[in-house]
Amino acid sequence: MFDPLKSLVPGRQVLSRTLITINLALFSYILIDFLLYHTDYPVKERPSLLVAYSSPSVNPSLGSRQTTDRINENSECLHRDAYYEIEENHGENPWNQMKWMGEPARCKVKGHLIEKLDDINNFRRGFSLRFVDGVEDRTHVLPWLLASKESFHQRKRRVYLDFGANRFSTSVGWFLRMYPCDFTEVHAFEINSKLLKKPEKGFPEKENWADATANSTRVKRMPGVPQWMLDRITTYNKYVSDADNEGNQAINITRFMKEDLKLSAQDFVLVKMDIEGSEWPILNNWMDDPEMPHIIDELFVEIHYSHPSMTAYNWDAFKPKSRDEAKRLLADLRWKGFYAHFWP
Ligand SMILES: *[C@@H]1O[C@H](CO)[C@@H](O)[C@H](O)[C@H]1NC(C)=O
Ligand SMILES: *[C@@H]1O[C@H](CO)[C@@H](O)[C@H](O)[C@H]1NC(C)=O
Repeated sequence: MFDPLKSLVPGRQVLSRTLITINLALFSYILIDFLLYHTDYPVKERPSLLVAYSSPSVNPSLGSRQTTDRINENSECLHRDAYYEIEENHGENPWNQMKWMGEPARCKVKGHLIEKLDDINNFRRGFSLRFVDGVEDRTHVLPWLLASKESFHQRKRRVYLDFGANRFSTSVGWFLRMYPCDFTEVHAFEINSKLLKKPEKGFPEKENWADATANSTRVKRMPGVPQWMLDRITTYNKYVSDADNEGNQAINITRFMKEDLKLSAQDFVLVKMDIEGSEWPILNNWMDDPEMPHIIDELFVEIHYSHPSMTAYNWDAFKPKSRDEAKRLLADLRWKGFYAHFWP
């Protein structure tokens, strides 16, 4: 039988070893590249030395995490304007009127898809397209919750901050029920103490179980908030502000988050903000603060503006802020690395 190895002269053996080595090196490179950039390898755990491979044209105010987040993206997403999308109507588009859920935005944020900023519908598709009567409907935001794209259960602190909570059931109840993360702490702010009332007694989970029946109903009535969860909730009757002012019962919320709660990038932090116009100075400060997009994982905010379509809701009071500026603010927050949605 012909044995190709025996027929090799020594010089050829060296050459073939060199070729094998080169092939192995190439294969390892391809494998490592594939694992890092073409799988769902969590962004936060990517080795930071890889920052060196990222484009130098990235906004220098961004931390290394944002820089790595963008390696895989559209090069246009390295520019601020790509986050501020202009609506173009191209004929047959299911997002004109057919879909309740929003269209994905062109640029990812924190490595994940997020909904396009739908200013034409005042960011409220369900109500605006008449799928629902309630202007506070949140159905459209459900596909875009960050904790449905990445698991945060390994984080020791999973914190939900509600600024401008209104009644207990308005948003605290909604997030507790609908958000796919098991919060370890909830801090809810509402200046009007008559509005925000934590239930005095927890829901009796144990007694609410029903025997299995033919109709599959396993509980006697719709569950509320059990005591163990109520114990994790703290309420504050204070104004959420960008400066402390005791006389006004105003609290510097940035200081509260960093110094009182000692929140850091290691924690999972969800912020919902509906504070009747005070969001403008706070969010503008957060955009100049390189720590905040690392501390806050996901942000829901009602940005108040003046626009003829919102006059019926007394939004003329928010003059001179325009709807266009509100969209720009949200787009800029995303560009800075905040996974930000309009609320509701
Ligand atoms: C389903 O079963 C529960 C518990 O037995 C009962 O109270 C309820 O009326 C039933 N519902 C229907 C629609 O049959
Ligand atoms: C609010 O707190 C932040 C963080 O501690 C601080 O940088 C900022 O200067 C404070 N704002 C005011 C108006 O004092």
